[in-house]
Amino acid sequence: MTTVALIVAAGSGSRSGSAAPKQYAPVAGRPMIAWSHAALSAHPAIDRVIVVIGAGQQALLAAAVPSAEWVIGGFERRDSVRAGLEAAAGATRVLVHDAARPFVPHAVIDRLLATLKDAPGAIPVLPVADTLVATDGATIARETLARVQTPQAFDAATLARAHAAWEGGSATDDAQMVRALGLSVAQVEGDMMLDKITYPADFTAAAARVGVETR
Ligand code: CTP
Ligand code: MG
Repeated sequence: MTTVALIVAAGSGSRSGSAAPKQYAPVAGRPMIAWSHAALSAHPAIDRVIVVIGAGQQALLAAAVPSAEWVIGGFERRDSVRAGLEAAAGATRVLVHDAARPFVPHAVIDRLLATLKDAPGAIPVLPVADTLVATDGATIARETLARVQTPQAFDAATLARAHAAWEGGSATDDAQMVRALGLSVAQVEGDMMLDKITYPADFTAAAARVGVETR
């Protein structure tokens, strides 16, 4: 059994306000991508970590994570994941992770991989804390919703099949593509450490999370 982690890092970070793409910007004194690369590489069940970068970002990656394995991604996130899946050919299991989520607790990876024994895919989720409202004004029961994080773990052949079959346009995660095959994706407990860095203020919040004990 071979387990490959893909870190998708080919986005432009347009909402982040950072000069270079956000995945290379410092978070708590270290390039954002270096955090998740180190955590995934250090997990005993992960055999290989591949970073999917934007065209021309080789030097940025080399400065952040010397000797990282990389491939070039694509225009949309799903194009980047697909490039990573091609590079991971031969893998039994894949974990797909956003570089925009720097801190990856090993306990979440453990939960995902344990659950993947009985499911084609597993994703980390957290409850929604805020009251939710539709933009037309209707209240939405938050108990029926959850926030989805990465890494997301999949049987590699199933995820490749899901990407090949996907006709749904833009996709913000991979689980929706697997569900589109008619399969059910399992949910495990996520972790606030995995919250995504999207906007400028998220950098400050992420830096404050470092050193915080997460169970
Ligand atoms: N991503 C990618 N390839 C793309 C687009 C996104 O690999 N063509 C990656 C990003 O690098 C990020 C993850 O997908 O790690 C989640 O995307 P998001 O947070 O939206 O990052 P960006 O697309 O870079 O940011 P923005 O949408 O603000 O431009
Ligand atoms: Mg984006």
